[in-house]
Amino acid sequence: MFATKLTPIRRNLLAWYEKNKRDLPWRMTSDPYAIWISETMLQQTQVKTVIPYYEKFLKTFPTVAALNQAPLRQVLRLWSGLGYYRRAENLKMAARVIMHEHGGTIPPDYGKLRALPGVGEYTAGAVLSIAFQKTYPAVDSNVRRVLDRVFNLGDAAKLRIMAQRLVPRWQPGNFNQSLMELGASICLPSEPRCLLCPLARHCLSHRENSTKKTAARRKLNFKSVTWPLAIVRRGEKILLRRRPTPGLLAGLWEFPGGEKTARDSVVATTRRQLEELGATLRSQRRVGEIRHNITYRRIRSPIFLIEVPADESIDLPASRWRWVTPAALQRYPLSSMTVKAAKVLASYEKSSS
Ligand code: ADE
Repeated sequence: MFATKLTPIRRNLLAWYEKNKRDLPWRMTSDPYAIWISETMLQQTQVKTVIPYYEKFLKTFPTVAALNQAPLRQVLRLWSGLGYYRRAENLKMAARVIMHEHGGTIPPDYGKLRALPGVGEYTAGAVLSIAFQKTYPAVDSNVRRVLDRVFNLGDAAKLRIMAQRLVPRWQPGNFNQSLMELGASICLPSEPRCLLCPLARHCLSHRENSTKKTAARRKLNFKSVTWPLAIVRRGEKILLRRRPTPGLLAGLWEFPGGEKTARDSVVATTRRQLEELGATLRSQRRVGEIRHNITYRRIRSPIFLIEVPADESIDLPASRWRWVTPAALQRYPLSSMTVKAAKVLASYEKSSS
């Protein structure tokens, strides 16, 4: 029964996409490198967040060769604020493989793409269809929801088969993006706009009036965390620490801080974070607070300014600790919490001067 239905579904979707697609920067290019970067950034991250990062990234590293030559630190700095930093590390590793094994060009081959660090089934399908016009599906969470509703499949294996059958041989990249666009703007999780949907006539859930409204994502699984941050300042310089790798926010630079446990106070947590310095740091002044979410953590960070007398020497215990001037901060790949905390300190100083 499906064979007869697939053609009008494809036609309706593509026609709708032509009229309604957004002019996104990665839609103005057919460069496989640029498309690979955009699809990597778009994993777990919203389009409007990605746009400025994508533009800056491509300006700084316009080719695989440029990315391969750049220090990881510079790549992480451009990634700062985008989250899921593992993606940036994988891009760097993949650039190396592409230079050494594929002559510097993105291979138009499913197996070779999947063998690159960080390239999963979705990214391989997206790059092959969008950059190379190859007939592969690209099923992200939006597309999965659309297909689930239209065909009422319910089962991951069936959905996969349907996704493969549905991609047309003509315009597979536009077709895949039309499904993504429909999921992002019409077939919404909790408030689907079926009246505007080009597939409503073909949609089993709509016909049976059984469109499942998915609850807003993972709301219930958030964990509230208190994560005090210490801005230790001596003279003009402030103290940065590099986060360990692997781990959460691996390799980024930050103001020392960490998750408070139920048993600890905020002050004790800060003190423990600074223990390694071996110095007695006295006066803590609370200068403000920030909020931040990392994956499932909802973080509240009180910010403490700790002034160290200019003549007090502190021997930094390892190269992962560094004194830097406020002007030099932007040369480091900083965690987003640290960027926010630096802004809080700047406005605190402004208001108290
Ligand atoms: N999400 C993932 N890939 C996308 C694309 N190419 N366009 C819009 N949203 C996306």
